[in-house]
This record gives sequence, C-alpha cells and structure tokens, in this order.
Amino acid sequence: MALPDRILTNAELATMVDTSDDWIRQRTGIEQRHIADESETTSVLGTAAARRALASAGIGASDVDLIICATSTPDHTFPATATEIQHALDIHHGVAFDVQAVCSGFVFALATADKFLTSGSHKVALVIGAETFSRLLDWNDRGTCVLFGDGAGAVVLAAEQGTGTIADRGVLHSHIRSEGRYRDKLYVDGGAGSNGKVGHLRMEGREVFKHAVINLADTVEATLAATGLTGADIDWFVPHQANKRIIDATAHKLGVPGSRVVYTVQDHGNTSAASIPLALATAVGDGRIQRGQLVLVEAMGGGFTWGSALIRW
Ligand code: ACO
Repeated sequence: MALPDRILTNAELATMVDTSDDWIRQRTGIEQRHIADESETTSVLGTAAARRALASAGIGASDVDLIICATSTPDHTFPATATEIQHALDIHHGVAFDVQAVCSGFVFALATADKFLTSGSHKVALVIGAETFSRLLDWNDRGTCVLFGDGAGAVVLAAEQGTGTIADRGVLHSHIRSEGRYRDKLYVDGGAGSNGKVGHLRMEGREVFKHAVINLADTVEATLAATGLTGADIDWFVPHQANKRIIDATAHKLGVPGSRVVYTVQDHGNTSAASIPLALATAVGDGRIQRGQLVLVEAMGGGFTWGSALIRW
C-alpha cells in the first residue's frame, strides 16, 4: 500500500468547514485521512503500492503481463493510469488498462483480472486501486469533504492449476452489478466530454447510504450462495471503507462478528477504489490475514456500481 505523508485530522477539518470531530466520528467512524501533495499523483501512489505488492509476492515486474488499475481520479484524462504505472515499472510487454467503477473499482478490477487469468490468456496480474479523491472535493461542502482521502493499494494474482473447488487459492467467485438510473445520487459535475472541467463530487448521502446497505447485502449473499458458504465460514470480511455504520450493518446481516471485520475507515477515510486493497495490505501486514484463509470483499459506489468477491488467500 501507499499513503501520502500528510494527515488531515477531523479537528483540522473543523477549522475549515462547519463540522466537528464528534459529528464525523459518530456518523462515519472516520478520525483522519491522508491527503496527497502535488507530486503524489494517482499513478505515483499506484506505482509505489504496485512495487510493494510485487516485493511481497516475490514476483519480478518482468513477470507481469496484465495491469489493471481501478481509479476515478486518473493523472490525465488519457492515457490510462495503468499504462503510466506500466511505464514506471519498466514493463514492455502485456497489457495495461484502467477500470472505472468508482468505489467498486477494485472489486471490478479483481473480477476482470480473474477472468483474464482463468481464460488462460494472461499469467500474472497486478491489480491496483489508486485514488486522489481530495482533488475532486468541494472543500466548502461539509457533507462530502469530510468523507474522503487519498491512497493506493495493490495485489498480485498469478494463474495456477487448481482443482476447481473452493479449496483452491485465489478468487473463488465474484459478482458485480451496476444500475445507471441512480447516477444523480452520486456523481462528479464535470468531465472532458461535457463541460471540460474536472468538476466536484456531488452526493445525496442519505440516499447512497440506503442503497448501499441493500445492494451490499444482495451481492454478498449472491457470492456466498454461489460457493455454498455462509458468513460463519468467512475468516475476514474486508469491506469498502466508506462509513463504519454501513460496514457494521452489512457485517450484522452477514452474521460476521466485529472481530473478523477489517476496519481502516478510521485512519484512511473513504479512498474509493483504493480502500479495499489498503485494508487488505493493513490486515496482511499486521498478520491477521493468513495464507489459506477465506476473505470476503465488497463495495458499492457511484453509478451505482456494486460487487463482491470471495478469495482464498
Ligand atoms: N458536519 C456536521 N454536520 C453535517 C455534516 C458535517 N460534516 N454534514 C452534514 N451535516 C448535517 C446536515 O446538514 C444535516 O443537518 P440538518 O439536519 O440541520 O439538515 C445533518 O447533519 C444530518 O445530515 P444527513 O445527511 O441526513 O446525515 P446522515 O446521518 O445521513 O450522515 C453521511 C451523512 C455521513 C454522508 C451518510 O449519509 C453517509 O455516509 N452516506 C453514505 C455516503 C457514502 O459513503 N458515500 C461514499 C461513496 S458510496 C460508498 O462508498 C458507499
């Protein structure tokens, strides 16, 4: 994982907009977030996370033949951030492209990479979630600017011959969905193809919250049903880190106790596509997630998009 050095606390935010540490903690669970400086672009953070993931996997960059970067905050409208990362890693073969599914981006990228690997077309994938959401925020809108942060996380997936059962390691099942009619609930009011501006994030928070709890429960149930498992079988639940109350509601529906939920929302805020790989890296780094364990990830984001994946680590 890679996080900017600069930490913005709730107390400091309260000097910028009409909010309080208490309000932010109680409604969201967020205590602080990391904010990128000018030099810390999405590709810079994504490249740093990718290098650490490769080192941790013991795999050289030259072995990677697929790079998928999930982001809604690319350095440039084009080229894709994934190709910028490919260049920074000095990789000259294979393919690199971005996936844009906002906060669900990492789950969409993971599902895509898994399908490439299981098809046999590619062998080693680098899946990255990288964001600089601070650059999309309206810092006068207390309803949104307190929620988000910057960072990146990455995982390496490698094709191996398996048994075709849930005893195999890797992505056992993924389920992804979208529903474009909810666009106005969560969107950015700018774009290269419309007003030519970067724009600001706009959100109807209460509406998003309501849909998140319903859609996340649906996707998690679909993934569990496909594998014949239940919440009781899950070793670690690693949800998108948007809001502690959304995480708690989903964990409760799943029947997963808090002790098996990975929370990083308090430290990172909502880092959109980066939040799941940041949480994975945190829980792998401190020894909670162990090889062979079952890890359930889920996310919901603008679009709406949502999805989940069950991984044997
Ligand atoms: N500080 C203090 N007061 C605030 C703040 C703030 N930062 N923001 C809003 N308020 C006020 C509102 O103005 C409102 O005041 P009023 O009652 O006088 O009108 C009051 O707090 C309650 O506002 P609500 O929006 O109803 O508060 P709610 O309990 O719904 O919490 C929140 C807002 C945290 C945004 C919540 O709706 C939420 O988390 N929604 C999900 C949004 C989300 O996570 N989006 C990320 C992308 S999608 C995803 O990742 C799932």
